Amino acid sequence: MSYFIGIDASTTATKAILVDDSGAVVAVAASEYSFETPKPLWSEQHPNLWWDASVKSIKQVLAATGINPADVKGIGLTGQMHGLVLLDENGEVLRPAILWNDQRTGAECDEIRAKLGKERLVQITGNDALTGFTSPKILWVKNNEPAIYAKTRQILLPKDFVRFKLTGKYATDRAGGSGTALFDVKKRTWSDDVVQALGIDPAWLPPTHEGPEVTGTVSATAAAATGLKEGTPVVGGGGDQAAQAVGVGAVEPGIVALTLGTSGVVFASAAEPFIEKEGRLHSFCHAVPDRWHMMGVMLSAAGSLRWYRDTVAPGVGFDELLAPAAAVAPGSEGLLFLPYLTGERTPHPDPLARGAFAGLTVRHTQAHMTRSVLEGVAFGLRDGFELMKGAGLTDIKQVRVSGGGAKSPLWRQILADVLNAELVTVNTTEGAAYGAAMLAGVGAGVWPSVDAAAAACVQLTGSTRPQAEGVARYEKVYALYRQLYPALKELSHGLSNLG
Ligand code: XUL
Repeated sequence: MSYFIGIDASTTATKAILVDDSGAVVAVAASEYSFETPKPLWSEQHPNLWWDASVKSIKQVLAATGINPADVKGIGLTGQMHGLVLLDENGEVLRPAILWNDQRTGAECDEIRAKLGKERLVQITGNDALTGFTSPKILWVKNNEPAIYAKTRQILLPKDFVRFKLTGKYATDRAGGSGTALFDVKKRTWSDDVVQALGIDPAWLPPTHEGPEVTGTVSATAAAATGLKEGTPVVGGGGDQAAQAVGVGAVEPGIVALTLGTSGVVFASAAEPFIEKEGRLHSFCHAVPDRWHMMGVMLSAAGSLRWYRDTVAPGVGFDELLAPAAAVAPGSEGLLFLPYLTGERTPHPDPLARGAFAGLTVRHTQAHMTRSVLEGVAFGLRDGFELMKGAGLTDIKQVRVSGGGAKSPLWRQILADVLNAELVTVNTTEGAAYGAAMLAGVGAGVWPSVDAAAAACVQLTGSTRPQAEGVARYEKVYALYRQLYPALKELSHGLSNLG
């Protein structure tokens, strides 16, 4: 039997999973770490954390199963996107990585728009310059840490640092590259125009590869550290959202992956690069060769429910909290919740956006508030769907839901009604790491394509259909919800600026 390893270097842990050639998960191990916030709005992590945690997790899955490392036929990498790793001429880390959730680069985003023009930037990269993306971080280092910038010889994304330690090679995948705001998404490679306009040395950028393409092999040093066999191929893999989509089989055009984690993501696979002209949705290359995807990222989805539970009903289990909300009619009797508890990315890229309950009356109970939180998140996700449709991606055939929030039948029904779409659940639950392992399997030739891997590994386990009454009611409530952010925008900014 042959095996594959998927490695996910996330913000909180690096996970390794071992998958066999039938697609079954044989072992999972994870090693946790934290990130630093040395100043308000900053978020940093030392790249060695990812490598040390990778070594531990790989050793654990090998030890737990006792398999012969020679039977591991491929490794796929995934991880947090957008982070900036800077290396010097000897491949040494120059400073802690600046992460995707770091917000320090507002001025550099303005600088990028001024240099390229927003319209041109969106047309080439598929996206506006966002504080979390990589290129403004590069300019921030140039503007604020010139000595570090002068020593820079290589730029990598987080998972590509793990690749460098595993293989000694600099490389990235095209889904990850798309999140740098330096990529020509249509051409699936670095944009000479953008790189030149920002004055970045193109030699610092790694070669790019499709998700299942082999980018290098495990070096003798990495083999000694991890217990893997020297020469094991390492494929491109993908940024965490693209790999997550592969992991739930959202690979064919028209299939949407909806992930209800702390953040909420709507991710639609597409046969061509659809670009939303304002850049309010991300338009990236998929981890599937020659496919693209559109993505809306909502920052507090299940995170909103967790905050609400911890604040209003601490210690209460989610099932217990949600049960009374099922008896409340759709629309929560005129109570709206705006889920912008940590600012927002889609559809309003606004770090100063704030959350709200609107429409409270004495009739409203805790059950109404709970339901309105679930509904507010569903409306926020619908905003992403509407932007996709507006950008031309109208052929949505199926929505695959995953993530902690998707375990709630009530939340699934609310989502099906708000989106007026059938939601399906799938058997695969290891997320991005599983998608990375599937890409390794395709690279090793076990499956002829990512589509074939998805067909072999991912089965549908359940379905939630929209109900006419809920759909009709939510159409009206959604129209009111759309008015809430514009009505509160200036007020939210004023409150945020109070400090
Ligand atoms: C995607 C994104 C997050 C990070 C963190 O655009 O910002 O998914 O990759 O996991």
